[in-house]
Amino acid sequence: MAASFENKVVLITGAASGIGRATAIKLAGLGAKLALTDINEAALTETSSLCTSDTHFLSAFDVGSTEASTAFVATTVERFGGIDHVFNCAGINPTAYPTADVTDAYWDKLMNTNIKGLFNITRACIPHLKSGASFVNVSSLLGLVGGAQFATYCATKHAIIGFSKSIALELGPKGIRTNVIAPGYIDTPTNALVVSGAQAVEKGCKNVALGRFGTADEVADVVVFLFSDASRYMNGSVVEINGGRL
Ligand code: NAI
Repeated sequence: MAASFENKVVLITGAASGIGRATAIKLAGLGAKLALTDINEAALTETSSLCTSDTHFLSAFDVGSTEASTAFVATTVERFGGIDHVFNCAGINPTAYPTADVTDAYWDKLMNTNIKGLFNITRACIPHLKSGASFVNVSSLLGLVGGAQFATYCATKHAIIGFSKSIALELGPKGIRTNVIAPGYIDTPTNALVVSGAQAVEKGCKNVALGRFGTADEVADVVVFLFSDASRYMNGSVVEINGGRL
């Protein structure tokens, strides 16, 4: 039986699409109170309409903004009286660029969202967390290995693992856990192969032992597990969700 999240407050970034949206829908079904954010306001509102519980708080902003992130966390605490779990999911999926062609704008955008955003939310949440709270941060298969033409994205996703493992050590003594998920090919609107079309997806499936892409819902199941008491001795772990890479 799935864990109950009745009276648990979960903050989710990147909640307007893909993995963040699927996790919001799942946790709403388990009774969680949700603080949802994303830069895309229209899609965030759509996520809210797909959530079955009616205890949502929505706010659209760029997670790379320190001020907006801090204000969002403060408002969440005001509304709900605290925060139990944090899902740092907002991120920009990679586009293949030879590194010599990477612009400052692309580099800054990925760093600002994937790393600075995760830092902003984490730093703002820490003072409000109590023993039993936890973070799940989203890295990637490309946080564990390199990828030709994906150096910028790889840098952000490797950094998330180093950051998260350090936070796990820092907050573990307070009973606050931090874990990482490293998804492989997941069928979401901005996955590079999904964007490239059916042929690219078919080719990608050849690298997966299970022979298919994962779904956002399958990733959400792992996130729920990592927030639940069933994973109470996991801290600083990196959980690969990739169907078995060949
Ligand atoms: P998605 O594009 O469906 O969702 C990402 C969400 O983040 C979008 O709603 C987007 O508006 C939001 N976002 C982007 N920049 C933002 C910003 N500056 N401030 C606030 N929100 C912002 O993508 P998906 O696939 O669900 O990705 C979620 C996370 O999973 C990302 O961190 C991604 O890098 C990671 N990931 C995805 C994989 C895949 O195959 N789909 C594989 C490995 C990791």
